[in-house]
Amino acid sequence: MSGSVDQSNRPLFKGVDHVGVGVGDMDAALWWFGRSLGFSQVLFDYTGELPGLEDLTLRRRTRARVAMLASPFATPIGPGRIKLVQVLEDGGAPPLPGDAGWGELGICEVCVHARNVPAVHEQLVHARGCAELMAPVSAKVTPFDVDVDLSYVADPEGGKVEILEWRGLWRSLPGEPRLEGVNHVAFGVTDMTVTREFYGSLGFSHLVLESDGYFEPMRPWYPREMPRQHMILVLPGQGAGIEPVRLHPETLDRRGEWGHRGPMEFAIGVSNLDRACAQLRRAGVQFHSDPQLVDVGVGEWRYAYFEDPDGLYVSLVEARY
Ligand SMILES: [Fe+2]
Repeated sequence: MSGSVDQSNRPLFKGVDHVGVGVGDMDAALWWFGRSLGFSQVLFDYTGELPGLEDLTLRRRTRARVAMLASPFATPIGPGRIKLVQVLEDGGAPPLPGDAGWGELGICEVCVHARNVPAVHEQLVHARGCAELMAPVSAKVTPFDVDVDLSYVADPEGGKVEILEWRGLWRSLPGEPRLEGVNHVAFGVTDMTVTREFYGSLGFSHLVLESDGYFEPMRPWYPREMPRQHMILVLPGQGAGIEPVRLHPETLDRRGEWGHRGPMEFAIGVSNLDRACAQLRRAGVQFHSDPQLVDVGVGEWRYAYFEDPDGLYVSLVEARY
């Protein structure tokens, strides 16, 4: 792949549309993500075959139950959706990759924007019984000294959910403490320069954080000596952002099987899937299949998985639901 895409067509790409989270029990997950995390709008709830996944699952066919969830409190800085996926093939949902420290190769968190992180966190942990992974902390992040509040809880499968408020980036819409939509997805990569250029050409253009060091509250999350964390956070003009991480001296491969429990993939929204695929193909990007169309009852779900620089599970999505 060349990693270089025609910049003039940037508006075609609309940032991260959703983060895919694998679950073992869809009904329990719908309850938790709806009631605890506020993603209570079910845009579709589909059970059936998912075409175009043969390259990723190494199966001739993949059946799954898929629910696309939106938050009624989504904002411009917390716009993203969450897609729950329950693999229905033999053995069900693969496990969360074991001993995966944050930032190892693979998807490592879904981040939900909030108004008033301490209040929301308190509610999640003490009223909803969510497992706490990191108590709220306030930080001023480099290189622009942006104020941010953040905390972490676990989803029912043990996946990491960050609760974050960009207090230094934008003033919240008014109202009570609340969770909004997805702000970004974090994932481990092997080469930050390549990742930056590749996703930069897909419209992820506004760097809001770059740091290279040790974020101490995460130290307990590593089953090995804590690696140095080089991370950047890039927001697009619309849609949710990305937070690639490169661990030093070594990044371990924790991508796991497609559909594994916890955050496991993300999708970039496009206004026209056929045009977006054609544009990326011209730039040398490989696709795992032609554009697919799934009738989800209330509309059409169109997607195509492509090969990102690290072979993560990433797709383009055109939402017609
Ligand atoms: Fe994050």
